[in-house]
Amino acid sequence: VSRAQFPPDFLFGATSSSYQYEGGTWDDGRRPSIWDAFTHAYPERILDRSSGDVATDSYHLYKANIYIRETTIIFLYRITISWSRILPYGKLSGGINQKGIHYYNSVINETLSQGLTPFMTLLHLDYPQALQDEYGGVLSHRFVDDFRDFADLCFKEFGDRIKHWVAINEPHTLSRGGFAVGDLAPGRCSGNARNWTCDVGNSGTEPYIAGHNQLLAHAAVIQLYRQKYQATQKGIIGISLNIDWAEPYTSSKRDRKAAQRAIDFDFGWFMDPITKGDYPESMKQNLGNRLPRFTKEESELLKGSFDFLGVNYYTGRYAMDQPNSNVDPRQSSYLTDALINTSYRNSKGEPLGPETAAPWVRIYPAGLTKVLLYIKNKYGNPLVYITENGVPDPGNYTHSPLKATPNDNMRVSFYQAHLSSVLKAMRKGANVKGYLVWALLDNFEWLTGYTIKFGLYYVDIRKPSVRIPKLSALWFRNFLKGNDHRRIR
Ligand code: GCO
Repeated sequence: VSRAQFPPDFLFGATSSSYQYEGGTWDDGRRPSIWDAFTHAYPERILDRSSGDVATDSYHLYKANIYIRETTIIFLYRITISWSRILPYGKLSGGINQKGIHYYNSVINETLSQGLTPFMTLLHLDYPQALQDEYGGVLSHRFVDDFRDFADLCFKEFGDRIKHWVAINEPHTLSRGGFAVGDLAPGRCSGNARNWTCDVGNSGTEPYIAGHNQLLAHAAVIQLYRQKYQATQKGIIGISLNIDWAEPYTSSKRDRKAAQRAIDFDFGWFMDPITKGDYPESMKQNLGNRLPRFTKEESELLKGSFDFLGVNYYTGRYAMDQPNSNVDPRQSSYLTDALINTSYRNSKGEPLGPETAAPWVRIYPAGLTKVLLYIKNKYGNPLVYITENGVPDPGNYTHSPLKATPNDNMRVSFYQAHLSSVLKAMRKGANVKGYLVWALLDNFEWLTGYTIKFGLYYVDIRKPSVRIPKLSALWFRNFLKGNDHRRIR
């Protein structure tokens, strides 16, 4: 695969996120997000009992991040504005933290001055804890107004320089991890979700309420941007959704339907509302009145509420039909609600793909082509940016400080295969305009802490100023040789 096979205006980039990168969680007036509260309240839910307190220290080292991008020749740099840094109490009435505004101005200006383009996310799983304490965060409709105020402030302060906005990143991950399984902040679940007993919430309803309010918050922010800013600021705004491709476990009709339900509960949950104004039929059927409904007005507002779709793709799985075994809805999970079970092998015992350092990731490049064509065919071929794609490894290349280039050959093959998959889909007409790698740096990987690594750059977590390009970074630089976007924009 080579750069020349992609159109010249196709954009390449790398991704970060606020809580996973910044550190500096108490610096200059920032107050806790749900992730600060979660990692400190439940250290046992993080594999290595770590947190994002320091992470890659990008709050202090952001210039180093930007310099790295210059050496990899990427063009887009995806960042999040940490809500807790600019509105420490979550609301305008709690006061604007000017030091936070100043920080993001510095990041954006430095990024642009290096000839790179910031790709800005407003919410990447880490909203202010104050909103959780006050009204349950995304469990309340009040979240919609506060998110709109936060977005308004961001558009006003930064929108003159930001041309790509992601309003919400992976609402599915927040809903499911935060409110069904409890392995992500704010850690709510009911019953025995994992190895911990967790009975603070109601897994049968809360994830769907959390998803619903995120959708309404998303729609409100898109409307705001379009009405108040888009004509003058001339940017585009979208949403980033994760999707795991699902293959049927057997070729039976039941399993084929199960695979479709897996995709509905994963992706259709958010994609259907923003295109059709309503949830997928299968969700309405299986969930009954556990699934909130949209008013006519809300449904109209949701329809078409994105200029581009961000696709976060990592993996796939096999899905099999699993008829209801009388699960208590309070203890239900995404799988029981979808009436499926999943597996990484099909009925013939064939694995979906090679294992990786994370149990949830099997390497499955063909799935990316399928995802892109599914989106093209089912949803009217929207403009797509792949806003995340990457693979984890244990990252223990050798002890630090490293003497040689970390050898992540596996990651190089991963990117080669997935870029080929993107090309395949584009040749069949998928409207893909950009590809961003997860991740620029090794970083705080949520429930797995620092035990698995996704970066093009190795980061010494005990001394985050030590950043060393891995083989994959060097490969990317080579791949993108002659990729001078500055001529294009
Ligand atoms: C997201 C993702 C990322 C993860 C990545 C690897 O919410 O966009 O969860 O933040 O770090 O998926 O696990």
